[in-house]
Amino acid sequence: MNELDSLVTNARESFARSATPAELENAKAQFLGKSGRVTELMKGMAQLSPEEKKTRGAAINVAKQAVEAALAARRQELADAELQAQLKAEALDVTLPGRQRGRGGLHPVSLTLERIERIFGSMGFEVADGPEIETDWFNFTALNTPEDHPARSMHDTFYVEGGTPEAPNLLRTHTSPMQVRYAVQHVKKHRGLIDAGQAMPEIRVIAPGRTYRVDSDATHSPMFHQCEGLWIGENVSFKDLKVVFTDFCKTFFESDDLVLRFRPSFFPFTEPSAEIDIQFQSGPLAGKWLEVAGSGQVHPNVVRNMGLDPERFIGFAFGMGPDRLTMLRYGVNDLRLFFDGDIRFLSQFQ
Ligand code: PHE
Repeated sequence: MNELDSLVTNARESFARSATPAELENAKAQFLGKSGRVTELMKGMAQLSPEEKKTRGAAINVAKQAVEAALAARRQELADAELQAQLKAEALDVTLPGRQRGRGGLHPVSLTLERIERIFGSMGFEVADGPEIETDWFNFTALNTPEDHPARSMHDTFYVEGGTPEAPNLLRTHTSPMQVRYAVQHVKKHRGLIDAGQAMPEIRVIAPGRTYRVDSDATHSPMFHQCEGLWIGENVSFKDLKVVFTDFCKTFFESDDLVLRFRPSFFPFTEPSAEIDIQFQSGPLAGKWLEVAGSGQVHPNVVRNMGLDPERFIGFAFGMGPDRLTMLRYGVNDLRLFFDGDIRFLSQFQ
């Protein structure tokens, strides 16, 4: 192979190795640039005779054109490749499903609260809502809870900075303050009837909502839910509590296959008091007693704080844990899952 042929071959190889336009321009400079190999050959003709110049010049020109053609071809190739890559990167796959907005849904505890409201609503209970930042009076004192009661200690109760005993100064530790809050309003509305010795429409209310205690583990969260229930009239007995709560549990769990147990207990605001336990007769939880609520006959002191005469008015209250009910209903074993906000967990309830 003569010198010119190998120069053309070198140029082709060098262009082929250039993977980008910038590399190709560098390679071009080595052959066609000011001190490139083709240019050097041209300069080398200076000493030749006119006759030799003619043939040599023609040969170099042929080689130069071959190099230029190879360069142009490679430029085109790289430009094509770049276009292809760009098209590929910007390609629209019209067969892909469109981007949709995730469909929202209700939180499992909200589902439970709605369910509780529906069931008690069907039994003639109102639904009431109250403040989460409470006063000492509604959270404790009105509920017959003495000053030195352990529940008032900083270990259990979140106190709000700057509060005073008259102004809201704590996060409610239960929904029970709603008993007196609601009853006072109800009594105010019907004061005339009551004082005239006529029948007062019964107080029948539930009050679901958030409650707070200094407590945190797999079964306790510093924020948790409760639902209060209150039924006050002139002739409301513990038997009514049993009937109502049994009915509620059977409807809530969609099962007749469960039994209730009223286990003697103590709360300052009820007397007598009972924990309500349920036991499933079949299914994965069969045989275990599960605590679902605190309850009792409303204490005379509390009835008095409602503005009613405890000799005439009587009734019961209960406080249940919707978080617990949700765990039982869906078989969830860690309460914290409800409040982590993990969409993989939450979306399972939609
Ligand atoms: N408030 C009580 C608690 O948080 C539950 C309860 C409510 C008990 C109503 C009796 C009556 O444990």
